[in-house]
Amino acid sequence: MKDASTRGISSKSTNIVWHQASVDREVIAQKRDHQSAILWFTGLSGSGKSTLANAVNAALFDRGLSTYVLDGDNIRHGLCKDLGFSDSDREENIRRIGEVAKLFLDAGIIVLTAFVSPFRSDRAKARNLVEGKDFIEIYCSANLKTCETRDTKGLYAKARSGQINDFTGISSPYEEPKNPELDINTGQLTLEECVQIIITKLIELEIIPANNH
Ligand code: ADX
Repeated sequence: MKDASTRGISSKSTNIVWHQASVDREVIAQKRDHQSAILWFTGLSGSGKSTLANAVNAALFDRGLSTYVLDGDNIRHGLCKDLGFSDSDREENIRRIGEVAKLFLDAGIIVLTAFVSPFRSDRAKARNLVEGKDFIEIYCSANLKTCETRDTKGLYAKARSGQINDFTGISSPYEEPKNPELDINTGQLTLEECVQIIITKLIELEIIPANNH
């Protein structure tokens, strides 16, 4: 596990000393019979990140595993309500979520994060907070046309008519992942198929056991 000194972020706090927990990830994993991990969902607004993260969460919960969903729209009601959608606010949003996700990882939980997270560099920073095996990037690759046609929240229409600025895919860029652990075409596959792909991957990576269900 990387500590604060390896993160390359300047700190205003001095005279602070890292306290090593005695009930650490390994102890928790042994007791609960599964590893913790960060499942980092990324994709356009309306690509199905939240729906898929919540469906995977339900499937894992059914198996008795410890999980939690961090969702962009929800987190922006609280922890990140001071942030908008400029590039720098998105960067800070993703920085905070990366740190929070890392805490969940330490707590032995499978944390599912559903944020547009449009910039490669911000996703890379979140990835670099933890060990490589702990970060599973899941690209929900429904394309812009599909997301805009769905327009479940009516936001694309507003972005096109100029009522929303800096809207991802319309007036703000989305940088596709180059090498995600999973690229799931959420525009074409059913929700059940998408869930199954992720569960299979978690079993293959030995994050969760294959034996229950
Ligand atoms: S991120 O870019 O910083 O990762 P985040 O996932 O937290 O974004 O929030 C995206 C959600 O906020 C979208 O699903 C959408 O519902 C809403 N939203 C409101 N304004 C915008 C905007 N300008 N661009 C993208 N999403 C927006």
